[in-house]
Parts: sequence; structure tokens; C-alpha cells
Amino acid sequence: MRRKNFRTGCEGLATNAVNGTGGEWQRQQDNTQSKVFLAQWHNNSGEHMAQINPIFSVPFAFDQLEDCASVNQALRELFIRREAMGSRFANPQPYTPRNKALFESHFDLFNWPEACVAQLREFCLSRLLGVVAEINGYDNAKAARLNFTTDAWFHITRRGGFFGVHNHPMASWSGVYCVSAGEHDPDQPDSGKLSFINPMAQMYLDAGNSFQKFPFQYGNYAIALKPGQLVLFPSWVQHQVMPFFGEGERITVAMNCAITLR
Ligand SMILES: [Fe+2]
Repeated sequence: MRRKNFRTGCEGLATNAVNGTGGEWQRQQDNTQSKVFLAQWHNNSGEHMAQINPIFSVPFAFDQLEDCASVNQALRELFIRREAMGSRFANPQPYTPRNKALFESHFDLFNWPEACVAQLREFCLSRLLGVVAEINGYDNAKAARLNFTTDAWFHITRRGGFFGVHNHPMASWSGVYCVSAGEHDPDQPDSGKLSFINPMAQMYLDAGNSFQKFPFQYGNYAIALKPGQLVLFPSWVQHQVMPFFGEGERITVAMNCAITLR
């Protein structure tokens, strides 16, 4: 159908009636004009590019504990011993959907006296302090006044184990440290991945935005954690652990931090 485009005055634009739930509305298709717009962009404007800025960005921080083999071995042996004690160290009030192939400890891990736990606590909280200071612009004097209220716990996940979508509403920063990745089946590329749900993807997708490049992409972000790796992220970001298909145990430590200035 040829008709006048009331916005541009150009002819040759088709209209497409779309039935919506609240009645009919019309949207105008500009496909016949795209060649004209492209020529204008190339010739008349000298391929001028509008300034593109990442206005709403979500900070994720990645770090690595060097020479982590011995501390990870100590953590693994400690956690497996505590898991074997059953309810003594298990989270008494599980909330997020999971299955029996995943063991979740109580949230007081960073209060344990073992040296391997103390080393992990120091690594996780010192790296988080650095991230918080950097991203908030705190100098050393102000960073020294930060007070961390922290929950920390461990997961042991065996074949078939998963942990459902959730976030951590009573904290500003969360983190996950990898003690052991387990041995993933080669035909299960998503096995045990920590998957973050893109908070900006819940809207209309078409050719105009489906293929946006970093940092504007709309897909989720999933990471296969490596031993010694620490991921820090805002606690409001929804995330999940994909089902683990492999041998051995996938062992992680998670933490939540509420942070105040003294
Ligand atoms: Fe979590």
C-alpha cells in the first residue's frame, strides 16, 4: 500500500496494521527508505557517527588467587568432611530451588577458624574492598572506614546438581569463588556454568538491537569458573548455576556483603 508518511512527507512507505491486545494501531515501515538513509549517511553527513555511551552499566569484577592449589585442596577436604556431617553444617532453611545433588552449607563460613578459610576470607574481602573503593571513588582514608557485614557459605555440586535463579536482596555486593570446577563431560558445554541473567533483555527485540555488541549486548552471560577464580557482582543481578554434568565435585564459596561507612 502506498501512502503519505505524515512524519517525513515521503511517499513509498508501507503501513502495516497490527492487532494489539487493546485494539488496532499502525506502525509505518521504512524499509524502502533504508537505501536513501544509507546514502545520506555515506555522502551527506560524511559517515558522521553519533556519540554512543554505556549509560546504564553493570560492574562485574574478575580476579584470581595465585598459587591456589594448596588452599583449594585444604578447603575441599574441609568442606567434604563437613558435608558428611549432614544437617550439622547444612543450611537449615533452603529457599532457592536446588536438588539433592547440591549441598549448601550454613552462612557462617567466614567465622570458621581454619587457616584455609581465613586465607580465602582475606582474599575475597580485600579484593572486594578494592573494587568498592575504585568504583565509588573512595580514597584510602574513606576506604579504611568501610564496615563489611558478610554471609559466606559453600556449595558442593555433583552430577545433575543445579541452583535456580535468584539474587541477594539484603546485600550490595556478592561474590563467588571457585574451589574446584569438577570434570565436565565434553559434550556438555554449559555444565556447571554460573549464568547471569541480563537485566536489560526483557524488552522488544528485533534486527535493530538483537546483535548489539559489547557492552550493549542483550544475551545472558555464563562463565565456566576456574579454580582460584573470584567473580564479584552487584547482589541484585539475577543468577543461577546450570546443571552440572561431570565427574567429581564442583565446589564454590559464595558471599554476600552489606557495607557501611563507620
Ligand atoms: Fe547467589
